[in-house]
Amino acid sequence: MEEVTYQGMTFEPYIKREEIAKQVERLAQEIKRDYDGTNPLFLCVLNGAFIFAADLFRACDLHDAEITFIRFKSYQGMASTGEVKEIMGLSEDITDRHVIIVEDIIDSGITAAQLRKELEKHNPKSVKMVSLLFKPDALKMGQAPEYVGFEIPSKFILGYGLDLDGLARNLPDIYVLKEQK
Ligand code: IMP
Ligand code: MG
Repeated sequence: MEEVTYQGMTFEPYIKREEIAKQVERLAQEIKRDYDGTNPLFLCVLNGAFIFAADLFRACDLHDAEITFIRFKSYQGMASTGEVKEIMGLSEDITDRHVIIVEDIIDSGITAAQLRKELEKHNPKSVKMVSLLFKPDALKMGQAPEYVGFEIPSKFILGYGLDLDGLARNLPDIYVLKEQK
């Protein structure tokens, strides 16, 4: 794996696709065990989570599971704006349903906290969150996700759905911003 460059910045390999696949499989087994016999609604938070959600949803192999999508935007460049914009809302009725929010990464936690608050208004049976990545040191609001793939330090990463202003989502591995020497 080689370094990659976006907007004049260098990123180095951080989490290989094989390691990602292993954690996705582990999370899928945990969710399958916890939701067996129910019909949970996976709620993929676009755009970042779409690749993770696709892999996780297939790996879970729950007969009656469904998936839907919602879209938020809070990041500009490499920092959270602190303000979360809902760009595409929820179209399904979640009343009395088990909802599993699927996120790519929990950073400040602002997006997740706002989404949970919004969902609770519709009286779901339960709401849990699965996030591929979690930066515990950056958490400012809300709680840790119930299911976490990797806990990582507060560094900017990209690839496997995660972007820098829309770029790099298509990288199969995850990269981290290289420290300046
Ligand atoms: P939060 O509201 O600060 O928790 O941010 C959540 C969203 O910010 C995530 O769903 C990502 O889309 C984006 N984000 C947070 N950290 C990173 C990162 O290191 N790389 C790329 N996007 C990130
Ligand atoms: Mg996101």
